[in-house]
Order: sequence, then structure tokens, then C-alpha cells
Amino acid sequence: MYYPEEIVEEVRTRNDIVDVISGYVKLQKKGSNYFGLCPFHNEKSPSFSVSPQKQMYYCFGCGAGGNVITFVMEYENYSFPEALKVLADRAGVKLPEVEYSKEERAKADRRSTLLELNKLAANYFYYQLNQPQGKQGYDYFKNRELTDETIRKFGLGYANKTSDDLYRYLKSKGYGDETLRDSGLVTMEERGTHDKFWNRVMFPILDVNNRVIGFGGRVMGDGAPKYLNSPETIVFDKSRNLYGLNYARTSREKYMLACEGYMDVIAMHQAGFTNAVASLGTAFTTQHAALLKRYTDMVVLTYDSDGAGVKAALRAIPILKEVGISTKVLSMKPYKDPDEFIKKMGKEAFRERIEQAQNSFLFEIDVLKRDYQMEDPEQKTRFYNAAARKLLEFPEALERDNYIHAVAQAQFIPYEDLKRLVNRLGNQLGGAPVRPREESFQAGEVREAKRKKEKDSGIRHSQRLLLTWLIERPELFDKIAGIVGPDDFKEPLYHQVATMVFEGQAAGNLNPAGILNHFINDEEQYKEVAALFNANLKESLNNEEQKKAFSETVLRVRKNSLDEASRSATDIGELQRIIREQAALGTLQITID
Ligand code: UTP
Ligand code: MN
Repeated sequence: MYYPEEIVEEVRTRNDIVDVISGYVKLQKKGSNYFGLCPFHNEKSPSFSVSPQKQMYYCFGCGAGGNVITFVMEYENYSFPEALKVLADRAGVKLPEVEYSKEERAKADRRSTLLELNKLAANYFYYQLNQPQGKQGYDYFKNRELTDETIRKFGLGYANKTSDDLYRYLKSKGYGDETLRDSGLVTMEERGTHDKFWNRVMFPILDVNNRVIGFGGRVMGDGAPKYLNSPETIVFDKSRNLYGLNYARTSREKYMLACEGYMDVIAMHQAGFTNAVASLGTAFTTQHAALLKRYTDMVVLTYDSDGAGVKAALRAIPILKEVGISTKVLSMKPYKDPDEFIKKMGKEAFRERIEQAQNSFLFEIDVLKRDYQMEDPEQKTRFYNAAARKLLEFPEALERDNYIHAVAQAQFIPYEDLKRLVNRLGNQLGGAPVRPREESFQAGEVREAKRKKEKDSGIRHSQRLLLTWLIERPELFDKIAGIVGPDDFKEPLYHQVATMVFEGQAAGNLNPAGILNHFINDEEQYKEVAALFNANLKESLNNEEQKKAFSETVLRVRKNSLDEASRSATDIGELQRIIREQAALGTLQITID
């Protein structure tokens, strides 16, 4: 962190967390906190809390938590300096200008250096495209019917036939070899240093904030690989970015179009469908779905009409469903992909196809049917059974019935017969709803949070409770004076935080959100610190039960600390002292009122 701590703290305190988060999430006051639907995972009832007192947010569902700076970082996908800048501007705080040499700066923030480098490269490729040596690339795009405006909008470019000109250009701008290698734009091998991309047309990949994070490069004609992509780097995470989302996020359509390729996105945007995005040469992931969920509840899949496209669609449907997005599937037949379809049929025909896009469940049933020879009565019966089984995936009777209707109609099966079949199968299976086969597609983040919760039992929980109580009711410090101190928190992170809490209290400025600033460069850590200050307190400490719980928690934390000390004690006098303290603990009473 290269801004002075006081500046960071000033920016933080000048931006009230409730004000800032209200701009993103609808919040409602409940008691002393505010609640809303968590923007970091999908949920139907609010477990996302914002505390004006602590100046922190915390989601009891997924464990996301932090202060106003981390919120902006996570929500906007900003690095720390970027978030700080936005918040400083918002509050009218002037950040000090920091002058750094190229290399110092690379150390201070490798991320922004790589972003800078990618931007230079994108400009370089774009410039090349419009030079005489770029004519082949320009003609290639023209052949594919892209307008100049589209080329400009997507920043398309050309990597020429010289195999190290980009390398030399970037060197001349002062970047070191290590930085260049980390960017993925250059390969360094025994044979020498070369540009990764040459003799290809170039597609810069932008994140939602219009920053160039990587590239795809296509051969002009046949050749392998058809598309060469940047490797993953610290700024390019393929499973968390979607091509075209920087534009699609501002489209006013209620749904998004998801397709497979660069050219499909571009062709759709050029035809006016500015809500099209593509995953970047990788399978659709839970993170992609979570990202889309920020902007829409409905996705129309416009995958290729070939076998691979159908497979990709079948994979994406449950992933989207898991985050609460409903999906439709568009048929491109008889063409291969949206680019070809639009070229041959025009945009009006494409719009019609969007309107006719099929409900994803009915699409799945259609695909299922392909495995059966429907002329054969036995196979046909099997298909009905398979369809009925699949209908049991809907746990809600009403929703299931709607789908029984729809499937019956689409497959020409009498409704009553299908319903009877579904019910019979349901009874055989003990009435439990059938989980889709793709169980493993459960949202990764949610699964991760669950795992953490389980691990996080026992003593760690007591320590969190204690810290949370102390922060919410600083008068409790007096009650535990001489009984529990920072050294009773054994785990390094807990110890570090507890030390700051106790010191803050002693100095008269206990400030949880400020403490969090110290961990801001490590997402895992600041989340954990946020959790330390947000143990799930059922109610305030008013009733007898809660008072007892406080007393027990204090003793438990101290007992654990003594137990550990006795295990590691080497000196007999020390051990005797520990044993005396352990005995005394048995009779100790903490009373609060
Ligand atoms: P396709 O092979 O369907 O290509 O790959 P396309 O999008 O129709 O491309 P054009 O129209 O021939 O130019 C779909 C997507 O898969 C990724 C790219 O993102 C591509 O747009 N892909 C494909 C690769 O990353 N590498 C490859 O070699 C091929
Ligand atoms: Mn294509």
C-alpha cells in the first residue's frame, strides 16, 4: 500500500458506508443496522447487512464483508488504488500525487502496470491495422462485413508479420522483460524473445470497466490454432470475464444474449443486439453466471447449432439456474452461429428467433428425446419415463405442474397420463425431489462459504463472538480486564486483529473499519477480519441467556489460551502458574448488567 495510512483513513471516514452502498443496493433499516439483498451472491431474502456504527458490511449468507473501500473494489472489480481514487473524488479528498519510476511503480502495483501495458499493446495493434502493412488484416475484417465503426468500437487490430516488433515497442516505452513476460504478450524462450501474437487479427478483451485485460488473435484464413488467446495473468481471469459485457451492461434490454465467440458478439452488436456477451474460449462458469446476475435475470443462449454448442448449452443451463437466472435457448438452424445467421438472414429474422427462443427445460427435453427411437414403442415409453423423471427436478408442485403441462403439449402426450407417470415415479423415489445430475455445479462461492462455516466452529467462533461483542459494546472491556487480552487470541490473524482492537480501545478510538484498512490488499484476509467483527449475534446482550453466553465465551477463550500455554510450557514454575490460573478460572464469575 503506497498511500499514507492517514489518507486512506480520511477517504474512508469521509465516505459513509450506508450512503455509498445505498447507491448500489436497496437497503432497509432494521434495528441499528441496514439490510438488503446481497450483491455478491444470489438470494431471495436479505442477509446482507450494513452497520453505520461499525462502518462495515457483512453478508451472513456468503461471508462477503469489509469496509466501504473493499465494497467498491469488489462491486466494481477495482484494484485498491482505483477504488480509493473513486471514493476520494466522491468525497472531495485530494490524493497526494506520487511520482514513481517505471520499476518502482511495477512493484507498487503490478496490476495497473499490466493494464497500462495491455492498453499500449491494444493501441499499437489498432494503429497497425490502419497502416499499409495492416491491409491484410483490414481486408479480412471487411470481408467479414465489419464496418469501420464496429472496428473502432471493439478496438480491433492487427499483429503484423514481424515477430518481435511489439516487444521492441514496449521495451522502448521503458518496460522491463519481467513485466513484459508477466503480461503474456511476449514469450521468452531459448530461441529468443518473441511476440506471442503475430500475423493475426486482434481482438482486445475489455473488462466491465473498459480496461484491456487480454487479447484473442485470429488467423486470417485456415490454420491452427484458429484463435490464440492471452494466457491468464494477474489481470486476466477467463472464468470471471465476459467478452462484450462492457457494452452489454449498459444495454437496456431485460435479457442478455450469451454466445460462444468473439465474432458472434461483434456481429450481434453491429446488428443492434448490444446485449450480447461471450465466454472467452472457455466453458461457462459459476463466476460468469454470478457476474451476469448483477445485470439481468434472463439469458438467451445463442450457442452454435452443432453438437458442441448443444453440449455447452446443456452445461450452462443448470449453472445459470443455480444463481437464479432463467434461460432460453435460441435455435440458429440451419446456420452455424449468430454471425453466419445474421449475415444470411438479417437482423429482423434474428429478432424473431429471439422471440421464439425455447424455454431451457423444454430444450433439455428435446435434446433428451434425441437418444430414443420414437418409432419403437419400448424406446418411446423409456423416453416418457426419462422425461417424467426429469420433471421431478422441480421441487415446487405448482411449478412442476406447469412444466408437466408444457411438456405434455410439446411432446403430444396426454396431460393426465404424464401427470400420473410423474406422480408414480415421485412416490417410488420417496417423494424427494430429484436433484439434477449436475450436482457439482452448485455455485462455487456458496459451497466455499458452507465449507468455511463448518470448519469455523468451536473456539474460533467464541473468539469472533467476543470481538464482535467488544466492538458493539465497548463498555464490556472493563468486565474482562485482567481476564482476557490480545494474547489469548492464538491464531496469527486473530491475534493481530485483537491487538489492534485492544490498543484502539485503550487509545480511545476503537475503529473496526479502520482496522480493516490494514488487510485491504488480501481479499481472503479482509473477509476473515470482517467476519471477526460480525459474529452472528441473535439479539443484544439484554436477556439472562445472553449474559450467560458472554460470561461463558470469555472463559472459554481464556481457557483455550491456558490449555495451549500448558501444552507448550517448558519451565516448571510457569506450568505451576498456568495450573493455578486454570483452577481459578473454574470459580470466576463475570457479571454484566
Ligand atoms: P468457433 O470455432 O466457433 O469460432 O469458436 P467462431 O467464433 O465461429 O469464429 P469465426 O467465425 O470462425 O472467426 C468459438 C470461440 O471459441 C474460442 C474463441 O473465443 C472463439 O470465438 N476459440 C476457438 C479459441 O479460443 N481457440 C480456438 O482455436 C478456437
Ligand atoms: Mn463464426
